[in-house]
Amino acid sequence: MIEKAKKLFLESLRGKEDIYGLGTHVPEAEKWAGKLCGIYKEADREVVMLAVWLHDIGHYPVDKVDHAVKSEKIAREFLEKENYLKDKMEKVLHCVRSHRCRDIMPETQEAKIMACVDSASHMTDSMYVDIVRDGRAEYAFGKLERDYRDISKFPEVKKELKDVCGKWKALLGALSKIDI
Ligand SMILES: [Fe+2]
Ligand SMILES: [Fe+2]
Repeated sequence: MIEKAKKLFLESLRGKEDIYGLGTHVPEAEKWAGKLCGIYKEADREVVMLAVWLHDIGHYPVDKVDHAVKSEKIAREFLEKENYLKDKMEKVLHCVRSHRCRDIMPETQEAKIMACVDSASHMTDSMYVDIVRDGRAEYAFGKLERDYRDISKFPEVKKELKDVCGKWKALLGALSKIDI
């Protein structure tokens, strides 16, 4: 089932301009998810991995609707079509819907892992630089701060990325001052 979700995600990018860099962000999130599922063995690895591949699938086309809402809808249609177990499906959908830690907060261990790996993957990818280069430095700083808040719920990840977070702040500050 995980392979099917991965295929669905990769197909969803085909022929589209990947302006949010999801083609690298989601595989990066998968690496972090593998690490956390190895530590927190009580978490349902399949639920987490399905959520990873499906959590951003509703990003494109970009419109005013929250992509977490659109991703949940697409994920539901996909999992229902695959006759996936109902209770596990609801767990995956909660992870997808709450991954932004905004209007709906992650309540299960799997959803907390999903939110953490989403943020951790931003810190080991180039997304902040892309945002600053796009002239939205303030947004990049805000996102970095929210990401640090969300990774801090898992001490192992916080410890590993604390230094990186500080370095991002310095780099983004320097980049945002360049006048070209
Ligand atoms: Fe997202
Ligand atoms: Fe994401």
